[in-house]
Amino acid sequence: MSQASYPSTRLRRPRAHNWSRALHRETMLTPADLIWPLFVTEGRGVEEKIASLPGVSRWSVDGIVARAKEAVGLGIPCLALFPNTPADKRSKDGAEAYNSDNLMCRAIKAVRDACGNDIGILTDVALDPYTSHGQDGLLDPSGYVTNDDTVALLVDQAVTQAEAGADIVAPSDMMDGRVRAIRMALEMGGHHNVQIMSYAAKYASAFYGPFRDAVGSGGLLKGDKKSYQMDPANGDEAMREIALDIAEGADSVMVKPGLAYLDIIWRAKEAFHVPVFAYQVSGEYAMIEAGAAAGIGDRDALLMEKLVAFKRAGCSGVLTYHAPVAARLLGA
Ligand code: PBG
Repeated sequence: MSQASYPSTRLRRPRAHNWSRALHRETMLTPADLIWPLFVTEGRGVEEKIASLPGVSRWSVDGIVARAKEAVGLGIPCLALFPNTPADKRSKDGAEAYNSDNLMCRAIKAVRDACGNDIGILTDVALDPYTSHGQDGLLDPSGYVTNDDTVALLVDQAVTQAEAGADIVAPSDMMDGRVRAIRMALEMGGHHNVQIMSYAAKYASAFYGPFRDAVGSGGLLKGDKKSYQMDPANGDEAMREIALDIAEGADSVMVKPGLAYLDIIWRAKEAFHVPVFAYQVSGEYAMIEAGAAAGIGDRDALLMEKLVAFKRAGCSGVLTYHAPVAARLLGA
């Protein structure tokens, strides 16, 4: 790149006024870039605040429907649903995950009934909200999370969600080979247009704590998820994960968490030219809220700066608990 030197070039020139900054802005964030994660709980008229996620609640299905209508009004194109499964329905094998009358399926159907195709419904495929041990898969006698046996259950879970009306199934479990197995089962079941957004590069992160409180798996989990989620030190390995998931039939891929992994987002976009999404996870959200509460900066400015960074890095969109706040700030 050649450019004239000072004073022919004064990069401050276009920055002088609002209109000019708007004209020169390289990256646009709009409500259409946002996916809103929501936590579902049993009951009617229930809202349970989540202490470690200030501003986020679990809602009973009727409340989820109200949030879905709110999202439509705000121009948010998609919801991501997560269940807080009652303790008595959690088991070693997480069988509730593929019960067609589980909380997730009832929430999917209620949103579909209320909103038709005005909003997309993304569902998480992993066993952790349904297991009594909080791991994402089946344990062998040594406590190791088995791969292939787990994949068989994830396939049942994904098909059950698709049958209930999910638009995008999003395997977040990090088992090997699950994208192909799920794609094949969806095709066989006639769910040709159900998308797979693969949590392709998902790291064993310390930022998931508030989420585990929200789905009620935090207190159950012993140990960690390092035998399946990725080592935060690895980037090349993320490219291999993403390449495999695309080859297996993923329609889009996700990098998770978000901000600490912008390099992975950038590399993925450069290498594969597929839709890449970021999950700004619960701990990231909580840090912004805690920082603002502690007086380190203006909450709205902090959150918008982080969200636009995902777009600048190459994301097609972002899963964020700030989705409704951000959509309102964007003038929706
Ligand atoms: C479950 C899952 C997790 C998140 C999304 N799906 C937690 C985990 O892997 O332990 C984390 C999301 C967040 O922290 O906001 N497999």
